[in-house]
Amino acid sequence: MSKKPFYITTPIYYPSGDPHIGHCYTTVACDSIARYKRMQGYDVMFLTGTDEHGLKIEQKAAEQGVTPKEYVDVIVDKFKNLWKYMNISYDRYIRTTDDYHVEAVQKIFKELYDRGYIYKGEYSGKYCTPCESFWTDSQLDENGCCPECHRPVKFAKEEAYFFKMSPFAERIEKLLMDTDYLRPKTRAVELVNNFIKPGLEDLCVSRTSFTWGVPVSFDEKHVVYVWIDALSNYITALGYENSAHSDFEKYWPADVHMVAKDIMRFHAIIWPAMLMALDLPLPKHLAVHGYITMQSKGGESVKMSKSLGNVVDPFVLGERYGCDSIRYHILREMALGADSLFSNEIMINRINSDLANGFGNLVSRTVAMADKYFGGTLPTERESDSLDDEFKATVSELCGEVDKCIDETKLKQALEEISKVVDRANKYIDETEPWKLGKDEAKKARLAAVLYNLLEAIRITSALLAPFMPTTMPKVWEQIGATEADVEYEKLSRFGVLPENVSVHKGEILFPRIDVDKEIEELNAILTKNMEAAKAKLSAEEKGEAPAEEIHLAPEITIDDFAKVEIRVAKVVACEKVKKSDKLLCLQLDDGMGGRQVVSGIAQYYEPEDLIGKKLQLIANLKPVKLRGVDSNGMICAADTPDGVKVIFVDDSIPVGSKVR
Ligand code: MSP
Repeated sequence: MSKKPFYITTPIYYPSGDPHIGHCYTTVACDSIARYKRMQGYDVMFLTGTDEHGLKIEQKAAEQGVTPKEYVDVIVDKFKNLWKYMNISYDRYIRTTDDYHVEAVQKIFKELYDRGYIYKGEYSGKYCTPCESFWTDSQLDENGCCPECHRPVKFAKEEAYFFKMSPFAERIEKLLMDTDYLRPKTRAVELVNNFIKPGLEDLCVSRTSFTWGVPVSFDEKHVVYVWIDALSNYITALGYENSAHSDFEKYWPADVHMVAKDIMRFHAIIWPAMLMALDLPLPKHLAVHGYITMQSKGGESVKMSKSLGNVVDPFVLGERYGCDSIRYHILREMALGADSLFSNEIMINRINSDLANGFGNLVSRTVAMADKYFGGTLPTERESDSLDDEFKATVSELCGEVDKCIDETKLKQALEEISKVVDRANKYIDETEPWKLGKDEAKKARLAAVLYNLLEAIRITSALLAPFMPTTMPKVWEQIGATEADVEYEKLSRFGVLPENVSVHKGEILFPRIDVDKEIEELNAILTKNMEAAKAKLSAEEKGEAPAEEIHLAPEITIDDFAKVEIRVAKVVACEKVKKSDKLLCLQLDDGMGGRQVVSGIAQYYEPEDLIGKKLQLIANLKPVKLRGVDSNGMICAADTPDGVKVIFVDDSIPVGSKVR
């Protein structure tokens, strides 16, 4: 029998700065749902990606002297690294710069134009450059600034294409008010009152003031502006109007689009209107969540965002507590639709209470007792008690409860349901007092029953937790002696799956208890330092200064890690510009080991003759690469400074080949 398809998407992120915990929320949430649905046997398509066009990217790239594509490539890699680190199991990653997407967007735009839904006009209004948004006067903040980033706006006017929204107003109102499309539904009234009732305004869908975008195929001085380019990703990634993929028939309409509230309007009104105009079916659900917020100095909760300089680096947290704990924490704290305040204290207390004391303790106590009283293997003789029936029923009903929460995109509630059963199991230990049973030979059969029931509770709770914490749960299965078959979805509503004579294996502590005071002090210091660095960088960027050095506290390394990098002193014996490149110089080095060629991106800062005869530091064991077709065997050390890149020259008295340590 073929599996039922299930299609879930995150927004596509702007690669305009390093990803932070705020970006992780939607992605981790969608990943958990995707994993859960795969476990249930669905054929899942989980899509994420990056939204790479626009003025802001064009400007940032220019500031750094690179092309927009070169600029986004670096940040897209950072997103992909983070998703790998957070164990995000996306099936497809779309970049709006992918050729197939560009081609499909051009066709979609033309189709909307041919159908009479797009027309040419003129746009004027207050424009915020960093946010790339026009705002009406009533939308500006109390200082007449951008309501999103609170920076000054300027009056702007340009020829533009518009998408007609009014033909769809009635159908969209029905979609929001009478169906289960928008979650939580409470937000529908606000959208209808604010945007539909006053009359849907036509949407500006092209720009002539910048070039970094998808060109309008029939009027090339225009590029497609934001939403037709961005929203189309959900269908182009499946092969709509392109031949790069061929899953459109299978997966469309999407089961769940998940977004934060700032882009709710675009997904609740504009996206359905676009689909209606194209005569395509509408997605089944739009799940809208709030922001991960931070407490400001004034005490209010404000959105965690790069432009406010208050972001928390997921790598810093992951290195300290493990990425599963971070995944759990962010999902457990945020109710669908509401904001959730991030603080080190809340996070550490949550990890301690739910994971160290709750689930982790349940596993370690149970496994330790099975080990202590039965040498790890349970005997088959059992004695039940009426107390067990209620316990078994509670555990067996859990899967149905979690299914419901997942289907309603209520992940916080799903984790709460699981926590309740974990707490119930810990209470069952207190009620049955296995340590007393263990002292009495006559009560061993009762003890075996208690421990078996606990192992079953762990089997079921851990399997249901696995989509949320995919790294840790296989370790739990190892400890409780469960095979992969024991944790299949079909067996999660059933008690008594583990073999009667199951063997446990004591293992590492899954979630070590955190020393709250010590940890908060250390973590606050690190995160405050990082945030100050981020703010300094931001303000330098705003003042138009060269971007300050990326002050990013990378995870600690050991001396052994450092020893893997071989730095040697080398002398430049010849140097020339790489043909057809403004940035690259090709250096011939005497490295004391027979010589080598290195290509370096410093042509804007040095003439070849500035370097010849100088000694510098060479990363000697870097994997060779080809840059613009030229072999590069290593890298020379240079510093990013406010005055540009500066090579780190070495005193002439140090012989070539000397090792730097
Ligand atoms: N590129 C658009 C989306 C286009 S979707 C067709 C965009 N990109 S974004 O990178 O700025 O934001 C992507 C999503 O991340 C948004 O939903 C945004 O609200 C979310 N988040 C960014 N910071 C966040 C928090 N602090 N908390 C929760 N979500 C946050 O918008």
